[in-house]
Amino acid sequence: MSHELHNGELKGVKHGFIQRKTLRGQIMNMQSVCSCGALKSLLNSDLNTSRNGLTPTPHVITAGSRTQSIVLQFRLGLKLKDSASLAIMQLVIRKYRPQDKDAVCNLFSCSALELIRPCFYNSVSSPLHLLITVALFAAGYLLGSVPGALVLPGVWIALIYCSCHNIYSSYVQLKLKTDMRDISGNFLSRPDNCFWVAEAQVDGRPQIIGTVAIKTKQSGEVRQAELFRMAISSSYRRLGLGVRMVKAATDFCKERGISELVLETSSTQVAAVNLYKKLGFSIVCTHTETHTYSLVVKLAKIRIIRMKLCL
Ligand SMILES: CC(C)(COP(=O)(O)OP(=O)(O)OC[C@H]1O[C@@H](n2cnc3c(N)ncnc32)[C@H](O)[C@@H]1OP(=O)(O)O)[C@@H](O)C(=O)NCCC(=O)NCCS
Repeated sequence: MSHELHNGELKGVKHGFIQRKTLRGQIMNMQSVCSCGALKSLLNSDLNTSRNGLTPTPHVITAGSRTQSIVLQFRLGLKLKDSASLAIMQLVIRKYRPQDKDAVCNLFSCSALELIRPCFYNSVSSPLHLLITVALFAAGYLLGSVPGALVLPGVWIALIYCSCHNIYSSYVQLKLKTDMRDISGNFLSRPDNCFWVAEAQVDGRPQIIGTVAIKTKQSGEVRQAELFRMAISSSYRRLGLGVRMVKAATDFCKERGISELVLETSSTQVAAVNLYKKLGFSIVCTHTETHTYSLVVKLAKIRIIRMKLCL
């Protein structure tokens, strides 16, 4: 996603580049800004003084001299202040409605299945698995020359990929058949539970771009809530929406006198772990118990991370 600067306001637009609209309404593509100097003066003038909270990061100014790379790095380097960027999107965080189901399930599935690739990369590049790959390569070569050297490590790597795939895809299948099947019934039938969606106007149409849910239970003396279904659509990440969704959930818990908020995530989800740490969560423990076979978890080399926030 890129942004359009229009009379001092930013609007999320779906073009592949940033457009600058001058106060006279004249559109100037950032691609026409063809030198670092021009970009720098642009940043120092209009953008720095605009009222929308746009804060260009310094590395952008010293970006490469080719136009295309300036545009790209500028876009990636945009750091909008949370409230400003999200207000621009006309964002609302509201309770789930039954008509949101398809969009919510789609967001849930996509954000879980996108973890297969980083999980595979982490697993295959772990020292132990690298060692096994090299050992199988050598063994295959000694037993059957070049084809053997390719087949044995190939089978091993395929096995790792299948494990990573299995963990996340079977998780999605399981949840779509259970708690996501009847979201209202599972998350909204009790006053201490809730399911929120973040809805933004995209090209004039409402679109679900984030979700989060809370379920409360009594754990001994403590009223404990668990956070589920945290997901932000990939085009809207790093805008502070994740923080806002978790804050909506923590405010809800505080209003109900809930003293602990817990959650589970996986070691693949580095962004999520960082987000929760930023908001004060700490890691309670890690384990390898999941919905699937322990051998699969071992091959995928993931750990489940349990985190807690005292409210
Ligand atoms: C995790 C997720 C919800 C974060 O949403 P987001 O809207 O991008 O988060 P925010 O913009 O509020 O970022 C807040 C902080 O999270 C951390 N963070 C977010 N994305 C990150 C990334 N890609 N890499 C490292 N840290 C990241 C940073 O600490 C960030 O603060 P900063 O921007 O000041 O550095 C989002 O990446 C996502 O939906 N991931 C896939 C699904 C998932 O893993 N869900 C968690 C289930 S437990």
